[in-house]
Amino acid sequence: MGQGEINWEQVHEWDEKYYLHVKQAAKEYRFLPVSHTEGNFVHLVGGLKLLDFVSQIIGANLGFKHPRVTAAIKEAADKVGFVQELFCTEYRSRAAKLIMEDVLGADDWAGRLRFVNTGSEANEHAFAIAKQVTGRPNIITREYAYHGSTSGAAGASRNRFYRSSFACPETGEIRDVPNFPGTGFHVVPAPYCYRCSLGHTYPSCKQEDGRLACILASENLIRTLGAETVAAFVTEIFYGGSCINPPPEYIPQLREMTRRLGILWIDDEVVCGFGRCGKWFAYQLYEGVTPDIMTIGKGMNGCALPGGGVIISKEIAEEVDRYRYWTGSTHAGHPIVAASVAAAVEFMLEENIPQVAAEKGVILAEKLQWLENQHKCVGLVQSVGLLGGFEVVKNRSRKQAFIEEDRFATFAGDISGYPEVIISEKCVLNGVMVGSNAPNSIRVAPPLTIKDEEIEFGFEVIDKVLTEIDEMCD
Ligand SMILES: Cc1ncc(COP(=O)(O)O)c(C=O)c1O
Repeated sequence: MGQGEINWEQVHEWDEKYYLHVKQAAKEYRFLPVSHTEGNFVHLVGGLKLLDFVSQIIGANLGFKHPRVTAAIKEAADKVGFVQELFCTEYRSRAAKLIMEDVLGADDWAGRLRFVNTGSEANEHAFAIAKQVTGRPNIITREYAYHGSTSGAAGASRNRFYRSSFACPETGEIRDVPNFPGTGFHVVPAPYCYRCSLGHTYPSCKQEDGRLACILASENLIRTLGAETVAAFVTEIFYGGSCINPPPEYIPQLREMTRRLGILWIDDEVVCGFGRCGKWFAYQLYEGVTPDIMTIGKGMNGCALPGGGVIISKEIAEEVDRYRYWTGSTHAGHPIVAASVAAAVEFMLEENIPQVAAEKGVILAEKLQWLENQHKCVGLVQSVGLLGGFEVVKNRSRKQAFIEEDRFATFAGDISGYPEVIISEKCVLNGVMVGSNAPNSIRVAPPLTIKDEEIEFGFEVIDKVLTEIDEMCD
């Protein structure tokens, strides 16, 4: 059926009536009909054209419908379609080789990779494998973390509002899912220096031996539990969801601590991976740091199809290799997804996309800094490569948040005054899509294929919108 033949009124009616929508109550339903996508733009029916300045949910890293990836999907669909995981396809084998050898080979730690369907599922498997190989029940996670929406991944996720809760717009009621997030997760302070939950100010938080207070607090909790009960410590490097960049000492100190205490480090690279932070993987930002287990997703095929993966170290692989790994997932290793991953990684290797992201990231950082200089409502800007954002404040000198609950907000009740809601909506009306995961934060994470003039346009719009927000500041 051609574009002209689509009955959009009918589409609207069926979508509104039958689809189970998220992040909006039925009464709040908003119809955002997409006619098509092109390059780094989403085109809506009616003519509005949106620059994707956040790669959808920080994952559509290669723009829309990348021709290499689309061609690979078509070829695999025509040739193989679907077979289950016990069969080997040329696509899965090539995708695994590209990641394990061409991308990770030089770091000499990665032993085996398994493809699954989402980042959440990848983290579920990472936790299960970590617990299996250590025989220990506990996982350490951090404040404000996001690692996914399934039970275990949600257990490691520590945003108040991201727990598959029901949040009522009218009454402000929040209903968490009973007995839902997995257990055995223990929370340590986030390396969030702007609002340190230990009350410190970086870098005066450092101990005499140079250790950060949040690392020390993490070690104290682990020792209180007993390191021999802790399977792993899971982290992102730059928090994609919560837009937090740790101080430079944090990851090396965390890695030193996990090695010294004999616990595994799970590096969640679902957002940070595949060039986003200006390296293939964000752990490579730190000399001598490698993970025990790494999870991947989104950027591995630019979200062309659902996908995730878990990569285990050589030592862990040696242990797992002795057993029959009795687990199942109907679509794991799906040939068409694998073909899309192979094509995307080949393209990223040929074009050295991590380096491109590092270079464009310099422009992004300058533009964010410029926003901070221009606008009193901008309290903090942060970025690594093409992953960044800013935090909006009512009073900059007092670091007063616009919405006091900030990262503990439930997103129930009236959220129309949340800066993220106001800014996102105004940006959309001006043709730019930004994103957020907290009431006072805005994320900026354009596709790694972004053009300089598109960065310019995106920031022009954000600048215009923030001028209006400035008027709401003290
Ligand atoms: C850091 C991180 N890990 C895991 C996930 C979960 O991935 P998925 O939505 O594919 O399940 C996300 C999703 O945004 C994420 O940001």
